This record gives sequence, C-alpha cells and structure tokens, in this order.
Amino acid sequence: MAWFMFIVYVLFCSFHVSLANDLSKSIDISWGNGRGQMVNNNELLTLTLDRGSGSGFQSKNEFLFAKVQMRIKLVSGNSAGTVTTFFLSSKGDYHDEIDFEFLGNTSGNPYILHTNVFCEGVGNREMQFYLWFDPTADFHNYTIFWNHQHIVFYVDDIPIREFKNFQDKGVPFPQYQAMRLYSSLWEADDWATRGGLEKIDWSQAPFKAYYQFYNEDGCFWYNGYPSCTPNSNSWLWGNFDYDYAMKGKMKWAQDNYMIYNYCQDSKRFPQGYPLECYLNTY
Ligand SMILES: *[C@@H]1O[C@H](CO)[C@@H](O)[C@H](O)[C@H]1NC(C)=O
Ligand SMILES: *[C@@H]1O[C@H](CO)[C@@H](O)[C@H](O)[C@H]1NC(C)=O
Repeated sequence: MAWFMFIVYVLFCSFHVSLANDLSKSIDISWGNGRGQMVNNNELLTLTLDRGSGSGFQSKNEFLFAKVQMRIKLVSGNSAGTVTTFFLSSKGDYHDEIDFEFLGNTSGNPYILHTNVFCEGVGNREMQFYLWFDPTADFHNYTIFWNHQHIVFYVDDIPIREFKNFQDKGVPFPQYQAMRLYSSLWEADDWATRGGLEKIDWSQAPFKAYYQFYNEDGCFWYNGYPSCTPNSNSWLWGNFDYDYAMKGKMKWAQDNYMIYNYCQDSKRFPQGYPLECYLNTY
C-alpha cells in the first residue's frame, strides 16, 4: 500500500512540476526566425545568435508591479561581443524599463552584469557587476522585483541593487506604465566587451543562451486594469528599510563585485549627481 501511494505521489508530482515549467504557457518567442526555440516539453528555452541575427522572447502577460524570475545559463566560451538581456519594459518613447544585460567576454574573462532603470524614456542609472560564479557553467536565478516602494535586482538570493521610490522627493519612479518581460540574445560588439575592443568571433557561432523555470507574480494588467494575485499582497508594499539581512547581502555584493556605479562617476556628473544618489544611504 505504501509503495502504491509512493508511485501515485511520484506520478502526481512529476505531472505537476512539468505543468508549472511549461514555458509556452507564459512566454512567446517573439523574434529570430526559428533561432529561439522551446525544447524538452517546453521546459528549456534556447536563444541563438548567428551571422544572420539574434533572437528573443517576451512574456504573454503585462504587469504593473511584479516579481519575475528565470534561471539562465549564458553563452559559454568566447562570448565577446554578445549581449544577453532580461528586462521589463513598457512601450513608446516615454517608456519605463528595468534592465539586466549580460555582456559577454573572451574565454576565461568575466562577464559584466549591467543594470539600469529607465523612467519615462530616461535611463542613465547604470550599475555594473562581476559575478561571483561562472554564469556559463550552470543555471542561475535572476529576479526583477518591482513594487510600490522599490526595485530590487537579485542574483540567486543575493540582492545586488535596490532603486528606491523617492518620487515624493522628486525622483522619477516607474509606477504608471505596465511592463512586459523581454529577453534577447544579440550582437553588440561595438560596445559590449572592453568597451568595443573585443569583436565577436563568428567562427564560434552559433552562440546560445539557455533558460528554464520562468516564474511571475504580482499585478497582471488586463484591459487597462491591474489585477493582483492574493500572494502578491504580502510583498507589494515592503522595502529593505529594516531588513538588515538583505542590506548585508547587498553590501557584500556591492563591496566585492560592483565595478561601476553612476552615483560615483564624478566625471560624468560634474554639476552634481542625480538626486537619488544623495538619498540612498548605501
Ligand atoms: C529563484 O529565486 C527566488 C528568490 O530567491 C526563489 O524564490 C525561487 O524559488 C528561485 N527559483 C528557482 C527555480 O531557483
Ligand atoms: C572582459 O575581461 C576584461 C579583462 O579581464 C575585463 O576588463 C572586462 O571588464 C571584462 N568584461 C567585459 C564585458 O568587457
């Protein structure tokens, strides 16, 4: 009897898991002419870049506040000149955008994880990091967390960057336009690797990035109205103000792995930094 129950349990669970991981339920391959594909019962998505073009996908849903997560394994080997993106964006000239961009490198040299936040078409809020692991060796979990109080970029369970909502102090914050998730793999060898010095090596093509376990939660945007999941009520309003464990993890990532912070680039802002740079205390 116990044995029988075990079999039933295993059958039920594997059925359940495969349903949850079926990427085709929540994602559309949006460009690339067959270079983007879902395989293994739609549990694995691959994006490809070759001489012809790159490829990309997007979420079926749009959100006004969301937590989106995906496990990604980046282009391995000589990935110089390639860029893999994973970002939320609204549409139009005055769009909002929350970006992860992974800038490839020559074999054995580190990727740069580039992050940015755009409000109403204006970005210029770049922060860049090295990673504390080889992002091409295995899948890692990348999360964009966006609620009323802040935007947080997570790598696995480490928050690497927080962009707080200081709208009441005059800093723009994305909160009026619904955004969709997008991801792409494309060529940007005029700037991506060592500022454009390392060109893409087409003899290594096709370049491939791998994705699995897409997870989205929050307020889904249907016909002009947000509809929040019951689960999202618990996180729609919180921030890190009193979460010292999270702040500690973020400090660790920034102290050890941050290689560029617009709020410390005095050459770029000779007249003074953007306002949020003075309001953030870490
Ligand atoms: C991804 O990370 C989030 C936040 O740390 C976690 O809740 C989730 O379980 C992770 N998912 C996977 C598939 O690792
Ligand atoms: C590539 O490697 C070089 C040398 O280690 C490093 O300076 C650079 O930051 C790395 N990443 C990119 C994307 O250029």
